[in-house]
Parts: sequence; structure tokens; C-alpha cells
Amino acid sequence: MVTVFGLGFVGLTTALGFAHLGYKVYGVDVDAERKKILRAGKLPFLEPHMDKVLAENLGKNFFVTDDVAAAVADSEIIYYCVGTPYGADGSADLKYLFAAVDSTIDAVADDKFRVLVTKSTIPPSTTAEKIIPYVSEKTGGSKNFAVANNPEFLREGHCWEDFLGADRIVIGCDDERARAILVKLYAPMNIPIKCVTPSTGEFIKYLSNTLLATLISFSNEMAQIADTIGGIEVAEAFRILHMDKRWNGCNMTSYVYPGCGYGGYCLPKDTNAMFAQSRAKGFEPQILKNVIATNDNRPKNIARQIVKNLDKNSTVGILGLSFKPLSDDVRDTPALHIIREILDAGFKKIVAYDPAANEEFARRYPDLPVKILNSAREVYDAANVLAIVTAWDEFRGVPNFGDKKIVDCRYML
Ligand SMILES: NC(=O)c1ccc[n+]([C@@H]2O[C@H](COP(=O)([O-])OP(=O)(O)OC[C@H]3O[C@@H](n4cnc5c(N)ncnc54)[C@H](O)[C@@H]3O)[C@@H](O)[C@H]2O)c1
Repeated sequence: MVTVFGLGFVGLTTALGFAHLGYKVYGVDVDAERKKILRAGKLPFLEPHMDKVLAENLGKNFFVTDDVAAAVADSEIIYYCVGTPYGADGSADLKYLFAAVDSTIDAVADDKFRVLVTKSTIPPSTTAEKIIPYVSEKTGGSKNFAVANNPEFLREGHCWEDFLGADRIVIGCDDERARAILVKLYAPMNIPIKCVTPSTGEFIKYLSNTLLATLISFSNEMAQIADTIGGIEVAEAFRILHMDKRWNGCNMTSYVYPGCGYGGYCLPKDTNAMFAQSRAKGFEPQILKNVIATNDNRPKNIARQIVKNLDKNSTVGILGLSFKPLSDDVRDTPALHIIREILDAGFKKIVAYDPAANEEFARRYPDLPVKILNSAREVYDAANVLAIVTAWDEFRGVPNFGDKKIVDCRYML
């Protein structure tokens, strides 16, 4: 029996994943609207396949509950999949995680052994230096609680296939009994399980995300060098790079390609959290520092290209608002930063369209003076210049609308 705190991309996938394997799973969330949507059998975000899995498991193996005490009483394993957003100085804010740990411990009324597992991304040493001491102090040193780290590597838009077909499962845990319980939990999946220390588990997740961010910032810097020198077919150059047999056919090439900079919930906050954690421990990483700076500067450079030689009364058309195609996630989306740069440059008329994220963008950023339109065609008709900011396939057809200037920020045309 498992309880999952946090029913976002990671938590819902985890909860439905374990339910699909036949475990009984309780889902807990503090967001009333999210629970209402889930209880109605709907998804609170765009994610392929998950509606079907939700329908198959809701009310059978998966229960969205407000009764934390009953859920915890019935569970041997408690998962934390809550957000870990930017905190002060870019470090990870752990308040949601500790609130969920508090709810768990406050709800326990027996002396069964339980494993508290963090799946949220937390900086290396957090389990050893913060969570274990916290749980120990709060429970008076009880031996009934063990703490583990189990990082998540799924990609939004591929949550379900990444759960079922994970490359590896990492269990960061020093407690033998807890480790055995988690190995048994995942055993039916037949996926390699690597047991490591909690700090190693936490580090592996950042190793992965900071490498991806580094590849993206490297590609963007190279594209800027090429644009500065001039006469270089940037997209073609990268495609030819990908033909190298040392890269060819490897999925990683999608990260070795220029664009608008990395965005979304994870890479921006995780690069900053890793930098802050290392600096707090006494080492200021220089590559990571510049990876972040390159990404932070990218929207300004892109905005400059979009409005180059443009009259301030012109209308700028933004195509794409989500941080990547096939997603409606607009958290830390490059479109937001690019739009802000264009506004800062003195342009007041901005129109935009996204095939999936129109509503979510308007909901999350209600103060942004952007007129959201219903199609790429409407944006084309209203704007003097267009910028492709998210690489949705349908934008490949926009040049057929006419001969207005299109800035292909994704190098996709
Ligand atoms: N989104 C991804 O692609 C991804 C991939 C791997 C790891 N992660 C990590 O997983 C974690 C969750 O990410 P996400 O994208 O699923 O976030 P999310 O914002 O989609 O979901 C987090 C959920 O936690 C809920 N919550 C907050 N406090 C709570 C509490 N005390 N009790 C119960 N629920 C609570 C929120 O209401 C929200 O529904 C983060 O640490 C993130 O870095 C995310």
C-alpha cells in the first residue's frame, strides 16, 4: 500500500504507475481544484495515455483522498512528489516537502515500520542533512521511520512511457529494511534497480539535468557565434553535426540543437539549485554558472532579433507559449521571458497563439498585456512580424500564409 503526496506530473504518474502494477494507492494533494478534476476522471494537464490509465484505476486501485490519517495508516510506503521551486538565491525551496512530511508524521497513530520516500528533486545531501534529522527529531528518534530518495527522470509529454520503460530505478537509501521494501515494490517492472546512498541518488538527478542544460546552452552559444560571424547555415550545421556516428541515432541530439533556451519546471530551477548548493558548500562551479548565464541571456538576444528594425507601434506575433511542443506547461517557458523582453524594449502590441497552452498561459500570467488568439492564421493576420517560439509541427506551415517576416527561433523551418 502506497500514499503519494502531490498529484502533479510526477506524483500522478507515480501513483497511477503503482496502481497499474496492482498496488493500492492513495493520492493526496492540497490543491482542491486539482482533486476535483481528478475525481471527475479528468487530467489536470495535457499528458498522453494518462487519461486512459486514470480511468482504469480511479476508484479501483487509486483513490484521491482528503483523509490523510486513513491513507497513512494503510500505507507502508509514503511518496513525496510535491514541488521544489526556486527558493532564495536559486536554492531549492523545500517548504512543500517538509509540510508533507509533517502531515505524514502527524497522521501516524501506530508503530508500524514506514518508508518515507522523496521523489521530488532535492539537492544532494538534503536527505542526509535535513530530512533524516528532521524526521528523527519529530518522532523522538523512532525506529519506525526510514527515509529514502528515489529520483524521477520522466519527461513531460512522455510520462507514462517513461514510467513503464524507465532506463533505471535509483534508490538512495542507507536503511537496509527500507531498501528491501523499495526493491520489492519495483521488482515487477523488470527494470535495473541501482541502490546507492541518498546523496548519490539526489546527485544523479542533478547530474542528468545539468548535463542536458549544458548541451542546450552550448548549442545556443554556438548558434550565437554563428549568427555573429554571419553566412553560416546554423540549422544545417547542427544537422550535419548530428550525422557523426558518435552522435547519430542517439536521442541526446535533440538537446544539441539551438533554440530559445531551456525552460519548463525542471532545468531552470535545478541548474540554479545545484549551483546554489555547491556554492553554499564552498565551491563555485564555473561551467554551470555560465550555462545558467547563457540561458538567462537567451531571451534578450532572441527578442532583439525579433524586433530588429521594427517600428515600436508594430504588432509582434508569438507562435507558441508552452515550453515545448505537445505540452500545455508554461512554467518558466521561454515565451514568457521573450515576451517580457519585447515589452521592455517598448513594444506594446503583442498577439500570441499556442495549440495547447493558450488557457494555461492566460491563467498563469493574467497581468501580461498579450492578446491571445485562436490560430496561427489569426496571429499571422494581426502581426507585422512573427516569431516561432515553440516548435509545434503545425507552425511549419506558417510561411505558406504569405511573405511576412518570420523569425524562426527554433531553427525548424
Ligand atoms: N515535471 C517534470 O518533468 C519532473 C521530472 C522529474 C522530476 N520532477 C520533480 O518532481 C517534483 C514535482 O514536480 P511536478 O512537475 O510533478 O510538480 P507539480 O507542480 O505538477 O505537482 C506538485 C503537486 O504537489 C502538490 N502539493 C504541494 N504541497 C503539497 C502538500 N503539502 N501535500 C500534498 N500535495 C502537495 C501541489 O498542489 C501540486 O499538485 C519537483 O521536485 C520536480 O523538480 C519533475
